[in-house]
Formats: sequence, structure tokens, C-alpha cells
Amino acid sequence: MGKQLRSQAWFGQTGRNGFIYRAWMKNQGIPDDEFGKPIIGICNTWSELTPCNAHFRELAESVKKGVIQAGGFPVEFPVMSLGETLMKPTTMLYRNLASMDVEESIRANPIDGVVLLCGCDKTTPSLIMGAASVDLPTIVVSGGAMLTGRYKGKPLATSDVWRIADKVTMGELEDSEIREMESCFGRSKGHCMVMGTASTMAVMTEALGMSLPGCAAIPAVDSRKKVIAQMSGREIMKMVEDDRKVSDVLTREAFENAIVVNSATGGSSNFVVHMLAIAGRVGIDLTLDDFDTIGSQVPLLTNLQPAGEFYMEDFYYAGGLPVVVKELSHLLKETPAVNGKSIVENSSDAENYDKNVLAEFKEPFQENAGIVVVYGNLCERGAVIKPAAASDELLVHTGKAVVFEDIEDYHARINSKDLQIDGTSVMVLKNAGPKGYPGMAEVGNMALPKQLLEKGITDVVRVSDGRMSGTAFGTTVLHVSPESAVGGTLALVENGDEIILDVPNRTLTLNVTEDELVSRKENWSPPDLGIKRGYIQLYLDHVEQADRGADMDFLVGKSVDVKLRESH
Ligand code: FES
Repeated sequence: MGKQLRSQAWFGQTGRNGFIYRAWMKNQGIPDDEFGKPIIGICNTWSELTPCNAHFRELAESVKKGVIQAGGFPVEFPVMSLGETLMKPTTMLYRNLASMDVEESIRANPIDGVVLLCGCDKTTPSLIMGAASVDLPTIVVSGGAMLTGRYKGKPLATSDVWRIADKVTMGELEDSEIREMESCFGRSKGHCMVMGTASTMAVMTEALGMSLPGCAAIPAVDSRKKVIAQMSGREIMKMVEDDRKVSDVLTREAFENAIVVNSATGGSSNFVVHMLAIAGRVGIDLTLDDFDTIGSQVPLLTNLQPAGEFYMEDFYYAGGLPVVVKELSHLLKETPAVNGKSIVENSSDAENYDKNVLAEFKEPFQENAGIVVVYGNLCERGAVIKPAAASDELLVHTGKAVVFEDIEDYHARINSKDLQIDGTSVMVLKNAGPKGYPGMAEVGNMALPKQLLEKGITDVVRVSDGRMSGTAFGTTVLHVSPESAVGGTLALVENGDEIILDVPNRTLTLNVTEDELVSRKENWSPPDLGIKRGYIQLYLDHVEQADRGADMDFLVGKSVDVKLRESH
């Protein structure tokens, strides 16, 4: 090791402080000569309340093996775990809090390099955001997807939840059958088994160069996940040796690569808000427009749910992300990944084993698969839509607004016979943004009312300042900025207003005169969320709008080397 190890500021001390730093660690049975080795922190989000990450204790053991094999000293530490399915009101409210936990846990401790165990949706951005703010050598092990569920001989996966919801609305499913489906759904530990947000985040991580090649697609319970965890343990030791830090990997070029890859893999719209937040932590000036400019014309090379047919398991068997990267190599930039090589170099040997799942660039599953950014008086700072998940015939559409003031209003009225709605309507949901929910929940893909489903209508244009689950689909305009809770134009929409969506021309317009909007604004007041304490108050005081990644204003910006004072 050429450079003095950071951990030596603790364990290299003599006298009282050295005694205190080492002696208490020795109560775990650690020999004295371990204290000169690189200390590798394994940041673990294991929790029985986060079932997607339920295998992370085993995964951490594999990482430790790799660290020890390479001559390091692994130390596992817990951080806040964000379980998507259980946490209310939404894990997104806590993404920034978890990132602060990660940042301070790493910074305050004698750690030379970090392995992040990422899985369920928000664990990946929160851990990368936090680690990026400290900027030590860091590698990610993505936990991997669950095995595909099977019910009555057919695959069952997360995207089916939305279809199940429609059947429940129609009274076509008994509760006993739902219980049976649940048992057939969750066949193994691991995150959602489609290209939802967790898989999108795993792909983003690999495309950014923050994990070893191939990591994203390996299923959670495949023995090769343990192998790549072990290899990541070895790799972090090289990163410490070479002093290859997060900021050496997360370059502007790396973000551009990830945008291209996200489009080609049909990634979730949540990708946008998390990428903006991560870029903010390393001082990269990424904007909403970059996603459209760099990614919207990229073709779809994966045939994975929710946009396609297959599942994450199939993605792995077909060759995984290296196949996609190889196909995109002419669009990707040379910039070092965690192992010092570019993602293109890392993927040069990739082979496509199933062209039903992974397409060649010259014969894609779909053209122009990336996320599109629209602007207009309804979203002055932008909004996003994923055309690959939308209905082609609705991408240019004019309709009358059916407004829900908040998610409670939506739930109360959506199946009322009195709801005035038809297939041409535009459903509008207010107060679902970063401040308004609070936490920017995944409610933007409002399920359609029974009266439309009964007519065979399965999609209408929907507009909100919320997000959409990466496993969902529909013609949904999301992340409207500024959000309604801060007085964005969305707050002023009334039932019957005309809304014009024109995706090819990148516009979303509320066809109401400026004078009328000014008059409505005079009568508008922000919602009272009734929260006056704790983290949520801190969040409300400092969270930024979606077009800035919904990070806290005081966490944005290139990390600084904070000098730590002695604790004793
Ligand atoms: Fe954890 Fe879907 S609920 S990834």
C-alpha cells in the first residue's frame, strides 16, 4: 500500500486513543496484526422488513471471503433499510435519510473502502448517494432478482399485480385465489423479477461502472451471485490499492452511458430522479434534458416485463447486461469502471444466448425506447413520460381533465358511478410530489375506474407530480415540476380543463388562459400536511423538486473532505 490508509488515523495511533480504538474491536476476537490491513466496510441493508434484501447476510459473508483472500479486514455494518412493500407513506420519503445514514456511517468510521449491498428499489440510490458524498473506493454488489413466480403453470411476476388489481376492481378474483397467487409469487429471496425499479437500479449501477460486469442480472439465489460478491470483495482491495474512488468512476461519461443503457433495457422512469440525485452528490451537472437528448432515440434491446415478455431470470440466462453493452458499444463512452476498464472493454466477450430476450442493435424490439421530457405551462421545469410503457395512440392526445386533489380523493371517487370520465379524459392527480405527499409516492399510474375497464378501456392519459412503479405501465406523465404543493400550475387544474399532450413535440399544455391561471392562483393555498417535527419536517424544509432529483438542498454538491476531530 503506497498511500497511508485512512483507517490508520484510528488503528495506527499509540497511547490511550490507539488502545481504545483497537481494544474494543478485539472483543470480537480479532488478532492484533489485522489492524494494519485495509479495512473494508460492508454496508448492509439486510432486514426482515425488506424481503428483497433478506439474503444479504449470506451475501456479506461471501464479500468477506473475497476481502480476506485479498489481504483485507472486512467489517460489516448496518444502515437504514428501505422495504418498498411495507413502508408508509413511501420509501422515497426516506431515500435521503438513508443516504445520510450511509454517508455519516462511512465517514465517521475507520473504513478504507466500501462494498455496498444494494437491492430493493431505494437501497441502491440511497447507498450510492451516501457513499458518493464520502468518495472513498466503493463497489456495489446488486442483490439480484427473485426467481420468477409460477401460478397454475404460468409465470407470475410483479407487473401482474396491476392486472390483478384491475381484476379485483371488476370483481373477477376471490380473496382465496389472491392468497394462493401470493404463495406462488414469492418463490425466493431477491428483488422484483421484472425490469422494475430495483432491476433498473442494478442495471444503472453496472452501466455506471459501479459494479463488476454481469452483476445486475444474476438472480439472488443463484450460486454465482455469491461468486460475484466474493470477486467484489477482492476487487475493492485493488480499488483501495489504486485509490480508485467513487468520483473516478462516476464521471459525466459514466452518467451518459447509463442513460443509453437504461433506454436500451426499458428501465423505469424512477431512473431519472435517482440519477439526478446521484449526479448531484458528485458535482456532475446532469439535467433533465440529458435524459431525452442522450437516451430517447436509443432502441429497445431487451424483451423484459413490464414493457416486454420475459423476466430477470431470462435476462441472465440470455447473457445479461454485458450483451446489451456490447451491442451499444458504438454509443458508449470510454470511462473506467470499478476495475479500471471501461464497461465496453468489460463486455467484449459477451455472447447472446437467446435472441427472443436480447436483440441485436440492428434489429431492436422497438425504436426510440428512452424516456422523454415534456415541457409546457403545466410543467415549466419539466415532466417525464416513458413512451415504451405507453399506448402509441395516446402519445398525441387532447382531453378534458378529471381532477383528483390528492390520493385520498382519488381512492374515494375513482369507482363512483358519478365520476364523469370516458376514454378521452385525462386523469390528473395533485399533491403526489416530493413535498405534497410527502415523498413523491408511486401513485402516478392511477388504476383506471371500473366504468372504463367494463368498456374495455385499459389506458388513458394520466398526469401527476408523483412517480410510477417501474413495474407499471400506461400513458402516464410523471414528476411534474414544479409540483402542485408548491403552487405549480398542476395545482390550478380544474375538472373539464383541456389538456394537450404532444410527446413528439415534447409538450404538455393546460389550455387555460394566463389571466385565468393568475386568478386561480390568487385563491390557491398550499396543503396543510400537519407534520411539524422530526425528519419529515427537515425533509419538507429542504427537499428539492423532481427535476433536481428530489435530494435535500444541503446534500447537493461535490463532496468535501470533512476533517474529523478525535472522539476521546
Ligand atoms: Fe423490493 Fe420490488 S419491492 S424490488
